[in-house]
Amino acid sequence: MSSPLPRFCSRGLTLAAMSLYAPLGRGANRKAGDVSDQAKRVLLIVGGGVAAYKSLELVRLLRKAGVGVRPILTKAGAEFVTPLSLSALSEDKVYSELFSLTDEAEMGHIELSRSADLVVVAPATADLIAKCANGLAGDLASTTLLATDKPVLMAPAMNVRMWLQPATQRNLETLRKDGVLFVGPDDGAMACGEFGPGRLAEPPVIFEAIMAALEGPAARPLTGRHALVTAGPTFEPIDPVRGVTNRSSGRQGYAIAGALAKLGARVTLISGPVSLPTPLGVDRVDVETAREMLAACQAALPADVGVFVAAVADWRIDEVFGTKLKKDKSGPPALTFVENPDILATLSATGPQRPKLVVGFAAETDHVEEHARAKLARKGCDWIIANDVTEPGVMGGEENAVLLISRDKTERWTRAAKDSVAHDLAKRIAESLS
Ligand code: C5P
Repeated sequence: MSSPLPRFCSRGLTLAAMSLYAPLGRGANRKAGDVSDQAKRVLLIVGGGVAAYKSLELVRLLRKAGVGVRPILTKAGAEFVTPLSLSALSEDKVYSELFSLTDEAEMGHIELSRSADLVVVAPATADLIAKCANGLAGDLASTTLLATDKPVLMAPAMNVRMWLQPATQRNLETLRKDGVLFVGPDDGAMACGEFGPGRLAEPPVIFEAIMAALEGPAARPLTGRHALVTAGPTFEPIDPVRGVTNRSSGRQGYAIAGALAKLGARVTLISGPVSLPTPLGVDRVDVETAREMLAACQAALPADVGVFVAAVADWRIDEVFGTKLKKDKSGPPALTFVENPDILATLSATGPQRPKLVVGFAAETDHVEEHARAKLARKGCDWIIANDVTEPGVMGGEENAVLLISRDKTERWTRAAKDSVAHDLAKRIAESLS
C-alpha cells in the first residue's frame, strides 16, 4: 500500500478483471456449492467495537446478494460478537489466530489475504486503522491487511474524540493516499453517550459501498464528477403559517439524484419540501423558496452537470406578512405577486461556472415537443426532458413518459417507472460527459 495511487489503479487491474477467489481450502466447513464460482468474495475483518453487532446484518445482506463472505474476527471483536454467529451467517469458517496450526494447514494467512475480491474492515477501529496505516502486522487482521493485494474498504467506528484525534486523522489521510476506500462514519448518538462523527455507517450503506467496489470503476463512470440536482416544489410564504406551493412529489428528481450517485457522482440535491428519504450517497440541502433554491445552487457550484427537476414557483408574494393574517371584517387580503428568478436560465448563463451539461425539465399539456424546444432555446440549457402531464398517473405518480430534446434531435422514450427514466438519464449524462 505504498503507492499514492488509488488501489484500483495501483494494482493495474479493474476489480471486474481480478482473478476470482481460489477454491476453498481443505477442511473449510462450507457446504459445496454455497457460493458459485462466479460469485464475488469478500474477506470481512470484524474489529472490536460495540458496532460489531452490525457486521452480522452486513453478512446477511451480502449472502442474500450471493456474495461469499469469509470472516476474520479480531480478539477484541470476539468480545462483541461470537464466532458462532459469524460462522452461521457467513456459512464459512471464522479465522482469528495468526499462529494456528489448523488454520495454517487449511489456508495460510498469506493465502487468506489474497483469497477475496475485496477486503472489508467493519467496524474499522482506531487501533486497526492505526496498525494498517503504519504497516504493523502483529495479529491475523493486521497481517492480512499488510499482505493483501486486493482493494480494501474500511467502515470506521469509534468514539467521537478518538475519531477527531489528529493521530487518527493522520492515519486516515495516509490510508486514503494509499488508496484505501472508506464508507462512513455517520454523525449521531453513540453507545458511550456522546454525540458526533464516529458511528458505524448503517449496514445497507456499507453493503452498497461494497457492491460498488466489487463492480469496479467501469460501473461508476461518473466518479470524480459533481452533479447538482433540484427537486420537489418550492414553498412561497404568505404569512408565518400560509404559503403558495404545488403538487410536485419530488420523486423524479430524487430518483435522478440517486441514479447519478450510483454511477459514482458526488451529488448535491437541492430539495424543496417533500417527504422522501435522501437517496444513498447524496448530499441533500433543504430549502423552501425559489430564491433559497437559487442561492443553494449557486453555492454548490462548480458542477459538471446540473439537472433542474424542481417545480419552482414562478411567482412569490411581494411582501410576506409578518404576523398571521386574521379573518376579519375587511375581507380577504389582496396579494400582490412578483416574479421569481428562473434558476435553470440563471445557471445556464453563469459563464465559466456553468455546468458542462445543463438539463431542464418541461411539464407540458399540449404541443409537447414544440413547447419544450422553445423552452430549450429560451432557457439556454443543453437538454430538455419533456413530459406530457395530461398522461394519466404521471403527475405525482410512479411512471413517466418523456422526450429527450437536445439542440439537434428529439428522442421519444417509452413510458417507464421514474426510477428507470432516472437510470437511463444518468447513463446518458455519463456518456455525454465522457
Ligand atoms: O418555465 P417552466 O417552469 O416550464 O420550466 C421548467 C424548467 O425550468 C424546469 O427544469 C424547472 O426546474 C426550471 N425552472 C427553474 N426556475 C424557475 C422556473 C422553472 O429552474 N423559476
